[in-house]
Amino acid sequence: MKVRGLREEAADILAVELCRADGTALPFTWGAGAHVDLQLGNGLVRQYSLTNLAEDAALHVAIKREADSRGGSRWLHEQLRIGSRVQVGVPRNLFPLQDGDDEVWLVAAGIGITPLLAMYRHCLRRGRPVCLLYFARSEAHLAFAATFAGDARASLICGLPADEVSGRLRAELPTWRPGLQLYTCGPAVFMEQVMAQAAAAGWPDEARHQEHFQAPANPAEVQGGFELVLARSGQRVTVQAGESLVAAAARVGVGIPTSCGMGMCGCCVTRVLSGTPEHRDQYLSDAEQASGEWLMPCVSGCQGARLELDC
Ligand code: FES
Repeated sequence: MKVRGLREEAADILAVELCRADGTALPFTWGAGAHVDLQLGNGLVRQYSLTNLAEDAALHVAIKREADSRGGSRWLHEQLRIGSRVQVGVPRNLFPLQDGDDEVWLVAAGIGITPLLAMYRHCLRRGRPVCLLYFARSEAHLAFAATFAGDARASLICGLPADEVSGRLRAELPTWRPGLQLYTCGPAVFMEQVMAQAAAAGWPDEARHQEHFQAPANPAEVQGGFELVLARSGQRVTVQAGESLVAAAARVGVGIPTSCGMGMCGCCVTRVLSGTPEHRDQYLSDAEQASGEWLMPCVSGCQGARLELDC
């Protein structure tokens, strides 16, 4: 696709509009909450939520420049220009808005506004009741402020000290009643507070939904001691404790392509031929994990003594 628009949406946040390079209509559709993979010119793959709806003839994403960027957001902020070509994956939705007319509560912090903005737009367009709580570090960090200007359904909360966030959530979230659904996205610690306060206000598990932008801070290590069989190459290797399947395969000369290395991007997805995976990724859906057919070898392990992969 081609970059058709670039805008500094807020401090450290770049809004990007992408259209097909040949100007034709998009060959796919998507629902609110979906994301796309962007293949960067430096070989990395990164995921970004779509902020617009499929009715539009372009893809809109917003990219936060991370202070500790490993080359993803920094590359995009520094290299993208109007007219730049970018390889874009088909939209995928791991954070869908539930169907129906239930009232939707959206609770965002920082760049977590991006999938929730699409949900907000979806609700407005469908006439579905919606309330948005959007926490930003400062007014300068508030993205898409013009979209919410003068809208009583959106509460924009800027510069609140971290130790006051829980109290504010407690004050804002209503006691749950049938017909309310909550979606939250933001830093992990923020989402934990949202989920806890919602639970305290009676929101059941099935009414609370969250999207992770970051891998868990301290993922459990892979238990070693099992045999990894690499069917295509005929190689076998014993996986060490704490060693990834990707690293174990590399020891016997088998390369598995990776990008994020955190179980989030899907780059390393590999078919399982036999054995039971121990999934640790956030990429495969629950159903895909349960099928046992695929695993993400950058983070996942094995529940038994032997795992055979199609690589
Ligand atoms: S490299 Fe991204 S999921 Fe494995």
